[in-house]
Amino acid sequence: MSIILRTEHLTKVYGPLIAVNNLCLEINAGDIMGFIGPNGAGKTTTIKMIATLLRPTSGTAYVNDMNVLEHPTEVRRMIGYMPDFFGVYDDVKTWEYLDFFAAAYKIPSHKRKRTIDNVLELTDLMGKRDDFVETLSRGMKQRLCLAKTLLHDPAVLLLDEPASGLDPRARIDIKELLKELKSMGKTILISSHILPELADFCNKVAIIERGELIVSGDVAEIMGKARGGKLLELRLVDRFEDAITMLSEMQNIRSVKQEDGILRIQYTGEPDQQYEILTALVSSGFKVQSFCEAQIDLEDIFMKVTTGAVA
Ligand SMILES: Nc1ncnc2c1ncn2[C@@H]1O[C@H](COP(=O)(O)OP(=O)(O)OP(=O)(O)O)[C@@H](O)[C@H]1O
Ligand SMILES: [Mg+2]
Repeated sequence: MSIILRTEHLTKVYGPLIAVNNLCLEINAGDIMGFIGPNGAGKTTTIKMIATLLRPTSGTAYVNDMNVLEHPTEVRRMIGYMPDFFGVYDDVKTWEYLDFFAAAYKIPSHKRKRTIDNVLELTDLMGKRDDFVETLSRGMKQRLCLAKTLLHDPAVLLLDEPASGLDPRARIDIKELLKELKSMGKTILISSHILPELADFCNKVAIIERGELIVSGDVAEIMGKARGGKLLELRLVDRFEDAITMLSEMQNIRSVKQEDGILRIQYTGEPDQQYEILTALVSSGFKVQSFCEAQIDLEDIFMKVTTGAVA
């Protein structure tokens, strides 16, 4: 797998405050990385430095091996940056807004209409093509902002809280759109402090607090480390107590807890050996309704690895 985005000791200092401290991140092509941290952690500052909009105090970032400090113009061609704040645009229609940015991206005029229609289609805004931007709802504005970042077909998307301030339905719309972008092969760095929102489609996660990277990597792996193993969920028809006794004595099981009729098993063994638990249960006559791995809960990871401190 090739690394498409890399930060190298990226640092930003504001007077006495170290907003981003020595941040080293790696993102492979096609990864969707959730960039998570509490308010003031340094997410926006990091994203802006990668987007060539803010000069690092030290360190740098590379997009496709291009140094953002040495080749900002080339880097901008490869990235789509969606800020956390949508500017004010009076008396501009949706298509005019996109046309303006398409021109800024130097998309030739004969190609512009098709490009604009494509991004309007993708963001489900075709019906709002001739509406004034100020009349769009917040969710639509957010989608329009995303449409803008897609005009030049960038390989890497840097999205700073794309779903903030949206109602649940609009959040789901954005999520669907992000899934579509993922399936198109885009690499996405997406910040949020609303964690469950990212759990569905991120394969990587980086958690930052007070400018420091606390943990980063594969979602499932980090979850495993934070939990000290994998969490398995078991439903039985009856004989819960017997099952707890038996499971507690098995190797590679750290703990067994009963919650709401489900047995939660902390499993520390190899993934390809976990069938042994099921085999043992069934051959001891337990009526197993279901046996599965618990859903990865980013909220859980977050609470385990952060302390709640802010700069
Ligand atoms: N221009 C600036 N001058 C001084 N301090 C700044 C500046 N921009 C950001 N900071 C500080 O840097 C730290 C990181 O801010 P940043 O906006 O990157 O956090 P964030 O993780 O994006 O937070 P949020 O979740 O609230 O968006 C904060 O303490 C903030 O007050
Ligand atoms: Mg921010």
